[in-house]
Amino acid sequence: MTNQNSASPASAPDVVKQRPPRILSGIQPSGQLTIGNYLGALKQWAALQSQYDSFYCIVDMHAITVPQDPAELREASVRNAALYLACGLETKHCTIFIQSHVSAHSELGWILNCMTPMGWLNRMTQFKDKSAKMQADSIGSGLFTYPTLMAADILLYQTDLVPVGDDQKQHVELTRDLAQRFNSMYGETFTIPNVMIPVAGARVMGLDTPTAKMSKSEKADGHAVFLLDPLDKVRKKIMRATTDSDRVIKFSTDPERAGVNNLLTIYQAFTERSREDIEAQFDSKGYGDLKKTVAEAVAEGLKPIQERYNQLMGEKGYIYEVLKKSADRANEVASTTLDLVRDRIGFVKPLR
Ligand code: AMP
Ligand code: TRP
Repeated sequence: MTNQNSASPASAPDVVKQRPPRILSGIQPSGQLTIGNYLGALKQWAALQSQYDSFYCIVDMHAITVPQDPAELREASVRNAALYLACGLETKHCTIFIQSHVSAHSELGWILNCMTPMGWLNRMTQFKDKSAKMQADSIGSGLFTYPTLMAADILLYQTDLVPVGDDQKQHVELTRDLAQRFNSMYGETFTIPNVMIPVAGARVMGLDTPTAKMSKSEKADGHAVFLLDPLDKVRKKIMRATTDSDRVIKFSTDPERAGVNNLLTIYQAFTERSREDIEAQFDSKGYGDLKKTVAEAVAEGLKPIQERYNQLMGEKGYIYEVLKKSADRANEVASTTLDLVRDRIGFVKPLR
């Protein structure tokens, strides 16, 4: 056995030079992902996967920043893995893993916590929104430091690109600031990641309240379309969506017309057609036609996802196998960065 504390580790740029560009992103486990999660995140993950070395995680440690039922959390994590695959992620391109299977996330999360100014966290709008809906004495400190764990997720993989919906932009900006701060304090260690927001579907709004983001935790029945909703229910929800009393079918930033704009945006994201094309299609049509057409496009988009999901849930052994292999790969990559960080900040290297 030798003590290797004097040996200098490979520097981050050396590590970075030897590999293809990387993506990392994640979603909190829930048996009920919405078309917002799909259009804001999963759909673009699938589109990007072949050009990048992609890491997609199921962020169960983020999920426990609010109370969770243990059995439901466990079930939701496996279901989400199946949904990732059902939405088109392929194991030959992607490492699909559960965040808590890679302990480096908690370790780097703690280290970053220690160097994150409270003022930076105080500015995070997601914390303000979430905490405003909770009783003051039930807000755990993890909800406040949530973005530093997210920064750890991203920085451990020397990530180049983070594809997320619009609401996560601020967290990725904080990650960049933290990486820059760490690099200037301790020397080049982390790759500075860029955020990627989809052109259509970056912010899918609630069908019942088109001025609020569609959220999987909102309880009202007509609010969200879930990826696993029976297709008839999907159609019904869209047919009941809030619109307005004008009869204009055009993309618009006017809050009064947010409902129609949301339906058009959902249609644009599912069909991948241009705005001009879509507006021309609905020229001189009514809201009933619009809703029917959008409902069909969404149902058609969800059908193959649901079929694949049902098939995968019948092969849980396969999902566990994917998660195991992926965790091994993720651990390997993450521990290389963590070793470098530990050395940089002055931790004694343990004897091996
Ligand atoms: P979450 O459900 O908060 O874990 O979000 C997981 C991913 O889905 C993130 O990239 C979010 O930005 C994205 N996302 C969640 N809700 C929406 C929405 N309504 N519109 C677009 N993207 C969303
Ligand atoms: N905070 C993200 C959300 O709620 C989920 C997430 C956790 C994430 N870690 C990440 C997204 C790393 C991108 C990269 O949507």
